[in-house]
Amino acid sequence: MRRDDFYTTGAASMRAVVFSRYGDESVLELTEGPEPTPADGEILVEVKAAGVNPVDWKHREGAVRSDRPFPLGMGWDVAGVVRGTVPGGPEVGEAVYGMLPLPYGGAYQDLCVLPASAVAPKPARLSYPEAAAVPLAALTAWQALEAAGATAGQRVLVHAGAGGVGHFAVQFARHLETHVTATASARNLEFLRGLGVHEPSDRATADLAAAEPFDIVLDTVGGPVQHASWRLLRPGGTLITLPEPVDDAHRLPHITARRVIVTPDGEALRRIGALIDSGAVHVEVQSVLPLRMAAEAHRMSKEGGVRGKLVLGL
Ligand SMILES: NC(=O)c1ccc[n+]([C@@H]2O[C@H](COP(=O)([O-])OP(=O)(O)OC[C@H]3O[C@@H](n4cnc5c(N)ncnc54)[C@H](OP(=O)(O)O)[C@@H]3O)[C@@H](O)[C@H]2O)c1
Repeated sequence: MRRDDFYTTGAASMRAVVFSRYGDESVLELTEGPEPTPADGEILVEVKAAGVNPVDWKHREGAVRSDRPFPLGMGWDVAGVVRGTVPGGPEVGEAVYGMLPLPYGGAYQDLCVLPASAVAPKPARLSYPEAAAVPLAALTAWQALEAAGATAGQRVLVHAGAGGVGHFAVQFARHLETHVTATASARNLEFLRGLGVHEPSDRATADLAAAEPFDIVLDTVGGPVQHASWRLLRPGGTLITLPEPVDDAHRLPHITARRVIVTPDGEALRRIGALIDSGAVHVEVQSVLPLRMAAEAHRMSKEGGVRGKLVLGL
């Protein structure tokens, strides 16, 4: 889509946050553009809320790129109401939540398109903003624990347990009946305890190397945290990295290490939704901002101190 096409003022237009060059928050623009047209297998969703993830500002900065021309849409997490569907897809009028496939964003807008297979019914006990907080972060946590083969009785360490991915990971790990340790800053240790973490660990002061070795470490931070994680694992243990590829320079024998890249999965979201509706999993939303404050949401996310999730309400 060319920029001129985007600004065509047709009868059917919608608000959308887009950007036309890579850069800081100031490149985000709230514009009017044409409604998207679903491709084969895709549904059209009226977006009630869009979740904010670190990948959003990484995409805006150009660290995560797509091959589509500018202007590019923004965001991957949505909760909303189905306005157009496909055979076998959800009903028109149904409340759903889901994750758009990477790398093409397009959630910070009144209407979005995504594969029917990427959505599930919105958990009944969640508001739209709470539901929009779930898909990408919860699927990442789910797929990371699945990749690690987490099973009851194992010792699991989750770094940044109070963050978007972390707060889901600790609760899923708890649900799998593993023994959960999680790092956080001091102000978040009580929050972690409330999520069922057995050993909340102050990331500024804790000496994790002195702890009993872990079977699984989820690295949600990267850099020195990934490097230190190898030596926290028992021989045969598994390191899962999320922000960065595995750094082979620090690789240790007898440790399995791999990076997980999240993929949309409506069926997993259905199962996650059941856990949420049963009360087993809590969704923490730090703030809901209006769409016009997308740039502020990016600034807050990049600053790194968000507990749970940030969401844009439409
Ligand atoms: N590979 C994938 O598919 C994938 C998917 C999702 C996310 N990710 C990546 O994984 C990372 C985490 O994502 P997220 O959504 O959980 O992020 P997030 O919600 O922004 O994480 C925020 C949390 O990180 C903690 N934190 C901030 N700086 C830290 C540091 N230097 N050391 C340790 N903890 C720190 C903070 O907790 P405290 O203040 O309590 O420490 C905060 O609660 C991001 O880099 C993201 O891009 C990758």
